[in-house]
Amino acid sequence: MTSRSNGEPLVRLSGVNKWFGDLHVLQDIDLDIARGEVVVVIGPSGSGKSTLCRAINRLEPIEKGEITIDGDRLPDEGKQLARLRADVGMVFQSFNLFAHKTILENVTLGPIKVRKQSKADAEKRARELLDRVGVSAQADKYPAQLSGGQQQRVAIARALAMEPKVMLFDEPTSALDPEMINEVLDVMVGLAGDGMTMVVVTHEMGFARRAANRVVFMDGGRIVETAEPEAFFTNPQSDRAKDFLSKILTH
Ligand SMILES: Nc1ncnc2c1ncn2[C@@H]1O[C@H](COP(=O)(O)OP(=O)(O)OP(=O)(O)O)[C@@H](O)[C@H]1O
Ligand SMILES: [Mg+2]
Repeated sequence: MTSRSNGEPLVRLSGVNKWFGDLHVLQDIDLDIARGEVVVVIGPSGSGKSTLCRAINRLEPIEKGEITIDGDRLPDEGKQLARLRADVGMVFQSFNLFAHKTILENVTLGPIKVRKQSKADAEKRARELLDRVGVSAQADKYPAQLSGGQQQRVAIARALAMEPKVMLFDEPTSALDPEMINEVLDVMVGLAGDGMTMVVVTHEMGFARRAANRVVFMDGGRIVETAEPEAFFTNPQSDRAKDFLSKILTH
């Protein structure tokens, strides 16, 4: 799909509302994400960060409002949904690799099945991507033979293999041992530097400072504050952000 390179945001959420039963989990969310922009989403547990990500690729339906990717409204179902969803790469906290497939097969599966690439083309591209995330030597191994940090980098390569227009990361380093966090963050900083549009749920302030254009602070299903990283971390405006930052900074 060709990009429509106009001034339109790549991702637009307008008036997005979602409920889980009585719980109003996303409340009047308006958020535009420009091409190449890196947005870090931060906020307390239960504030709706994961739900926001999942709504963007329609793993969760929304009850009210509109989400568009590159000008196309996310459809409810069917072929068009599958196509639009393939434009949105997602990396979760848990690595979700297929345990019984090799690393190379994990990365080529989507391109062959969904993007209809030939096996040879998909493998060539997969090896390039595995090289880019620093795990090319592991291509013929199985996920359980890799460290958590390596598996998460494979998950990033797998998402990139679909040539997504935007990448969503939901706490990609929070299940990792501390010494593996930076190897994953470094890959993400590199991606950001290459111009990938990214939405990243993380409490890693170092990443936000190095790579984010904007920080979006959520609480209680709402976007409470939006600011540049430095301004947000040094001089948050809302009491809720101040309170939240005082808690995470003491850890
Ligand atoms: N499938 C679901 N059914 C019902 N309630 C849900 C469901 N998924 C999430 N919730 C609730 O919606 C709220 C927002 O959840 P969400 O996972 O988006 O928060 P979060 O900001 O990602 O939190 P965390 O930092 O803990 O990951 C929470 O109160 C959660 O319990
Ligand atoms: Mg979450």
